[in-house]
Amino acid sequence: MIPAVQIDDLAFSHPGDTTPTIDGLSLTIPTGESVAILGPSGAGKTTLLTLLDGRLRRWQGRVSILGLALDPDAPPPLSRRADSGFIFQEFALVERSTVLRNVLNGRLGRMGVLRALLGRPSAHDLSVARAAMTDCGIADLANRRVDSLSGGQRQRVAIARCLAQEPRLILADEPISNLDPARATEILTLLTHAARKRGATTIFTSHQPDLARRFADRIVGLRNGRIVVAAATADLTEDATAALYELNDAARAPQLQVIS
Ligand SMILES: Nc1ncnc2c1ncn2[C@@H]1O[C@H](COP(=O)(O)OP(=O)(O)O)[C@@H](O)[C@H]1O
Ligand SMILES: [Mg+2]
Repeated sequence: MIPAVQIDDLAFSHPGDTTPTIDGLSLTIPTGESVAILGPSGAGKTTLLTLLDGRLRRWQGRVSILGLALDPDAPPPLSRRADSGFIFQEFALVERSTVLRNVLNGRLGRMGVLRALLGRPSAHDLSVARAAMTDCGIADLANRRVDSLSGGQRQRVAIARCLAQEPRLILADEPISNLDPARATEILTLLTHAARKRGATTIFTSHQPDLARRFADRIVGLRNGRIVVAAATADLTEDATAALYELNDAARAPQLQVIS
């Protein structure tokens, strides 16, 4: 089967930065898996997700998403853009609009141009949006304005909007930062269940090794744009597990070279 993501020798520097943000990274992610990317702030997690979403230019190496090679000089073709869905750390919702309208926004890339322009979803668009809201536990909030919701509810709306897009690859940037442990578990449960039900591959970034091990099939530890641990969760060695917990230790982590 074609992997969801195939990265070979990827390198990228933000314009003006002297050190590379992504530095010789290679990784294969099988289709349908749930993958956690762990690493301290500044490791390059958000940069990597943004690149996989086709939004960065001028990188080096080879990257294929669902069998399509990304072009470092151009965005993906329009016909493929809805295949990857991004859940932003700051949600990026339309605050003064309803939950249903926000979730339907996820379908814009799947609607015909005219429907999108007129804001007229089809019965199918509505049914996909309702299924996404149900899976995120927010069906009863459909007509509420987003600016009246709690942080946890907003996060559910952001996930439902992404699911309504019917992406084959879900990229979630720190979906559980700022949540207490009970809420974090709920969010990762619904995200990974909904993705699995739809056969989608999920990549989420996190700082929490315990939750990553519980919810991810595969774990990638990143530091300074390099992979220091990469393994199927079931195959994590003791050394690799220890390395995941030491990722945030500036003194120790640069020496980590546990590629298993
Ligand atoms: N838009 C940008 N312009 C310049 N440098 C950036 C930009 N975004 C991120 N960086 C730099 O790239 C590095 C990795 O950042 P980021 O990908 O946000 O890491 P993480 O998500 O792991 O915290 C950091 O050193 C950060 O300062
Ligand atoms: Mg980040």
